[in-house]
Amino acid sequence: MTGAQADTVGLRHGTDRDGQSAQAARDALRTVFGHFATGVTILGAGHDAPQGMTANSFTSVSLSPPLVLVCVMRTAAIHQAIVDCGSFAVSVLAAPQEHVARHFANHSRPRGRREFDIVGWEPGPRTGAPIIQGALAWLECELAATYDGGDHSIFLGSVVASDHAPAREALLFFGGRFHRPALRRASGKWDIAVYQEVS
Ligand SMILES: Cc1cc2nc3c(=O)[nH]c(=O)nc-3n(C[C@H](O)[C@H](O)[C@H](O)COP(=O)(O)O)c2cc1C
Repeated sequence: MTGAQADTVGLRHGTDRDGQSAQAARDALRTVFGHFATGVTILGAGHDAPQGMTANSFTSVSLSPPLVLVCVMRTAAIHQAIVDCGSFAVSVLAAPQEHVARHFANHSRPRGRREFDIVGWEPGPRTGAPIIQGALAWLECELAATYDGGDHSIFLGSVVASDHAPAREALLFFGGRFHRPALRRASGKWDIAVYQEVS
């Protein structure tokens, strides 16, 4: 056994080991998943009645053709909106936008037009899906395919428009918490990224 293995807590899935409840198993797996550091995005769908949701499952897939994917809980309100509209937008959040991430991850947030009251947004030029102002980058996608992902759906999006702002700090998510990088000029030509926990 390696040192790294010795330090880990083993999980076995699909069994009820030591009386471990299904909920406890899910919580433990969420903790494992949370050890993968990501950026944070807001998914948007719908134009007349826009909806949003915080998501870190965004992944770039292909440059040619341009494809991305997001994984969305089947029970999330935006799931049906993406299916109905056949399109969605992805806004990549900047470091100061933690409050936006928290808002769109809060199940008790207002719905309908009021859902977007806390933040500026614009309809995407191609799909009308809401794009968050101040985002680091955004993409508009037409829904190219939907795959079964257990309690989530995997939405493959064909990118039809995108843009980015001048480079700024990104909002990060790691270990169940939001972080922001603090870039410091080190000796020589390298910047050192020091990741500061913000909450
Ligand atoms: C940082 C972060 C990332 C998240 N990523 C996803 C994701 O990729 N897919 C997903 O379905 N839910 C994700 N969630 C959870 C949803 O944002 C949250 O459960 C939301 O309230 C679901 O929408 P609903 O309120 O309409 O059910 C994430 C939450 C946070 C805080």
